[in-house]
Amino acid sequence: MTTIDVPTEAYLGVTHPKRIKPHLSIALSNRSYLPRVDDLQSDWVAHVAAPAFALYRRRKGGARIDSFCSIGTGSGLDVLAAIELLGAQRVGLTDLHEDVVATAAGNVASNHLPSRPVTIEYGHGDLLAPLGNYNSRYALIYENLPNVPLPDGAGIANGRKSSTHVPPRVERLPELVKRQMLDLHYLALVQAKSFLLPGGAVLSTLGARVPLEVLLSLAKLAGYSPSLLTYTWKVQAVPDEVIPDHAQKQKEGFGPFHFYLAETLEKAFASVDPAKSRTDATEIERSLQAVRLDASAANEALQRGARIGHTVAVLQSELR
Ligand SMILES: C[S@@+](CC[C@H](N)C(=O)[O-])C[C@H]1O[C@@H](n2cnc3c(N)ncnc32)[C@H](O)[C@@H]1O
Repeated sequence: MTTIDVPTEAYLGVTHPKRIKPHLSIALSNRSYLPRVDDLQSDWVAHVAAPAFALYRRRKGGARIDSFCSIGTGSGLDVLAAIELLGAQRVGLTDLHEDVVATAAGNVASNHLPSRPVTIEYGHGDLLAPLGNYNSRYALIYENLPNVPLPDGAGIANGRKSSTHVPPRVERLPELVKRQMLDLHYLALVQAKSFLLPGGAVLSTLGARVPLEVLLSLAKLAGYSPSLLTYTWKVQAVPDEVIPDHAQKQKEGFGPFHFYLAETLEKAFASVDPAKSRTDATEIERSLQAVRLDASAANEALQRGARIGHTVAVLQSELR
């Protein structure tokens, strides 16, 4: 078990946090997903989820979003972000392993302000199944699940492989979903239907290594009305693991998957206002087509020492 300090203002881009402590003390078990507090541009919560939560609330008129659930929370920082930025007072969280979830729930309990009580519902296991016994529904469900299936037979028990998930799945999946390795995102959307409050939404955080059109189809196939909330980019975290995994899967017939040189994305998104990125997304995607690298080319560039990035979409799915 280790503990890291996270300065709330810098991490969430807020001044004077009102619901969580100004300095977060985050415990991590050996299997907890590692936040990247030393490089916020490659941290999912700081760089992608927090701006998306703030925008979601603004677009809903600014009122508090009372209840929030994270599928695959890792450290619990996404839940703390939701408490601060959405004003959530009842939170649900899951992840695969008991130690990870217990540590995350402890992080939430010990880092919100005592004057702002929070009800925490949690359990370990697959997707939303661990929360079944609570009979709860949430106004917003968030997920940032991995894309790449572990090779059959590989154990996840001792690993901290944040980019991979455990096969095989018994559920039937649409062909498009399987080919583009969006399995867990699809299954989370399907399960979320039984956990959403009326008028609620699911935010799926997706490394957009496949076309935006495919991401919208993913939500439609799961029975939702989708829209993009934000379109942005990120430096590829754990590139030595994720890019070769995608290159291997692409060779096996999945994808194709697209990456970019990080400096290309830095320039392309420099003048994009995150709040307006959703309307410009298709145009940005089109303008990047000529400079994209498929997974094999990205892997070769990585071996030559290039810094690789990928676009990121936050997909907002509402029940029809
Ligand atoms: C990329 S990390 C995201 C962590 C955190 N939610 C964030 O946004 O920074 C993916 C998380 O999903 C968890 N995970 C993977 N497969 C899962 C499953 N089937 N059910 C629940 N959680 C899962 C992993 O253990 C990991 O903590």
